[in-house]
Amino acid sequence: MNTRQKLPAIILAMMLTALACSPARALDNGLARTPPMGWNSWNTFHCDVSAALVEATADAMVASGMQAAGYTYVNIDDCWLLKQRGPHGELVPDPAKFPQGIKAVADYVHRKGLKLGIYESAGTTTCAGYPGSLGHEKQDAAQFARWGVDYLKYDNCGDHLGKTYPQRYAAMRDALAATGRPIVYSICEWGNESPWRWAPAIGNLWRTTQDITPRWHTDQPDNHYPQGILDILDQQAALSHASHPGAWNDPDMLEVGNGYLTDDEDRAHFSLWALLNAPLIAGNDLRHMSNDVRAILTNREVIAVDQDWGGRQGYRVRRDGDTDIWAKPMSDGSVAVILLNRGRGPVKITTTAREIGVKAAGTYTVRNLWKHSQASSDGRIEANVPTHAVAMFRVWPGPHPAKQKGDGSN
Ligand code: GLA
Repeated sequence: MNTRQKLPAIILAMMLTALACSPARALDNGLARTPPMGWNSWNTFHCDVSAALVEATADAMVASGMQAAGYTYVNIDDCWLLKQRGPHGELVPDPAKFPQGIKAVADYVHRKGLKLGIYESAGTTTCAGYPGSLGHEKQDAAQFARWGVDYLKYDNCGDHLGKTYPQRYAAMRDALAATGRPIVYSICEWGNESPWRWAPAIGNLWRTTQDITPRWHTDQPDNHYPQGILDILDQQAALSHASHPGAWNDPDMLEVGNGYLTDDEDRAHFSLWALLNAPLIAGNDLRHMSNDVRAILTNREVIAVDQDWGGRQGYRVRRDGDTDIWAKPMSDGSVAVILLNRGRGPVKITTTAREIGVKAAGTYTVRNLWKHSQASSDGRIEANVPTHAVAMFRVWPGPHPAKQKGDGSN
């Protein structure tokens, strides 16, 4: 080809590069139009994954009512594979953990009407030291697609071989797109390189922090492992501009039902993640959860806040010492609000419809999303909030609205 013949190809390449680098643009794969909901093995099971665990978890997701509440993805994290690639350079599922391979597990999960997720890393190894996908993107993506994988969490461990973050993550984006299979693409680089600036053009979601741990507060600096619920929350306050349908900030998987969290702390964690339009990826043992934990994970009124796009994710309205007010506009003109008590004693927290941005009206309807009760108000919104807990409301301008379809209210 001479230069004239090459010109259209060069212009096209320049346009594609500009698109890929434009932070305002979202990855256009049509997926994750609402924040993904599901489960991931890591927070509870770490490397102890198997086909039996994944299949029993899929069963539990259905039996517990989680599937009916919107949970779809059953995601295998690290350690599903052997430490060496196979003779053709392919990834090999560990036969002791996945005796029939990954496709059989995908088929099982799909028969339940659920979807399967898997894990790899944009480096030479995964974080647990298994082979990474850097330099093998096309082969690995094609293999995931053949197996019927629907979601990829793509981590940041191993040697990066001198490549930049956007280069490494875009290589897998392109490899996934080339398979033709719809695969949600979850970028996991721990907030290292301000992914909210470049990841919307590359992935459907991007981790914003170091790993979560099931503690209220760890007092670790931001870039240190591990991060408690409040530590992660405080790092989200500046990021609410970055997300939109198809492209979500990911403050990490849920710890509801895990570790040292009390029921009030679990409710606070779940409420706050919903307000942030976070992916709701449960991280507990679904096979053996208490009724309280199940009720938290399946609270449809709170889930409805997570799944609604009212123009921006939740943001912090105000912080006063140990109390926070967070709000999120909903698409029907209501506003979701959280009164958070970070501290060690109970406290009365007050805000107003005006402060959280509800359209002015003579009277307001205030619905309590945990008590499933509602009352009318002159605009004042207040609650006595116990230690390490939230009150969560949805506020409409005007009299009681018609029951919200699918919000689980009763
Ligand atoms: C990193 C990720 C975790 C998990 C582990 C697996 O730490 O951030 O979420 O995937 O790797 O090794």
